[in-house]
Amino acid sequence: MAPRKSAPRRSGLLDPSPDPAASHADEEQPGSNRAGGGAEGATAHQREDGLRPRRLDDYIGQAELKQVLSIAVQATRSRGEALDHVLLHGPPGLGKTTMALVVAEELGVRCRITSAPALERPRDIVGLLMNLQPREVLFIDEIHRLNRVAEELLYPAMEDFRLDLTVGQGSTARTRSLPLAPFTLVGATTRAGALSSPLRDRFGLIQRLEFYALDDLQAIVERAARLLQLDLEAAAALEVARRCRGTPRIANRLLRRVRDVAAVGGQGRIGAELVDQALRLHRVDGRGLDASDRRLLRLLQDGHGGGPVGLETLAAGLGEDPATLEAVVEPYLLQLGFLQRTPRGRVVTEAGRAHLAGCGGGAEP
Ligand code: ADE
Repeated sequence: MAPRKSAPRRSGLLDPSPDPAASHADEEQPGSNRAGGGAEGATAHQREDGLRPRRLDDYIGQAELKQVLSIAVQATRSRGEALDHVLLHGPPGLGKTTMALVVAEELGVRCRITSAPALERPRDIVGLLMNLQPREVLFIDEIHRLNRVAEELLYPAMEDFRLDLTVGQGSTARTRSLPLAPFTLVGATTRAGALSSPLRDRFGLIQRLEFYALDDLQAIVERAARLLQLDLEAAAALEVARRCRGTPRIANRLLRRVRDVAAVGGQGRIGAELVDQALRLHRVDGRGLDASDRRLLRLLQDGHGGGPVGLETLAAGLGEDPATLEAVVEPYLLQLGFLQRTPRGRVVTEAGRAHLAGCGGGAEP
């Protein structure tokens, strides 16, 4: 069984990971296609809700994923069956939850949303599974964090729509099987490699979400601006797109910060200069790196002669959890070509060094 590490967490403006305490288990919002809400107050998911696309046609980017799911949804709809189980993996903020909600909408069924840390007791997952109606979607976020009991309850549930419960203890223990409605499990993870193979093998569709291309991000920002009734110039949308780490969730978050600065400054029309001013205020640089990204690159460059440095050493130097560093911070730096993973450890590249030098010889932008 794969080791179970703590959840990737990251603090600050760009924190892309939902708070496990704000989980979405067991609550229902009347009239909305989800079970969720969780903790008091607005969660990251709830704030995003208004900007989420609801249908595949409104979902911008991830062309291959959309094509695969569109075919699977149409085929299962015509057969009147439940869609095969889907595993979505990739860096946080790329739209895994959104896609689960979109798939449910396309199937014309409800989506129940939860996350693995909320399924601590066997009865948590038993309750969710038993309440599913035929063809409904159950979304489990951070599925690599499921405990062993929950995971083992899921195996027959996924495979045969059956719940195997142990009743009694010791020599009187018996297994009772209960039938479940055919359902679709959509699992999401930032760490596909941390899933056990028996669990991974039970998903019929395994899809990776990629960082978004610049033009898709610009279109996402323009769509969000329309929904927020902002007068945003195309160049301003492009500037947000450049600085959001290829991630729609961050794009929308940055857009809200830009909106604040525009509102306080009494500016109606938002241009690229205002975006730059707002994002500098939040220490987001021209390529979208935040303070913790730059700290990582600087530690590598100045503290370790550019590397190679092992993940654990780097994480200890930054006071971060290694799993967070690997799943949340590093992917975008790798994508930009500022960082490389080698067999001997992490190395800062020439492009990474040049970027740091451009940040004013070490000063924050
Ligand atoms: N908002 C967040 N992600 C989006 C996407 N992929 N398409 C459209 N709007 C979005």
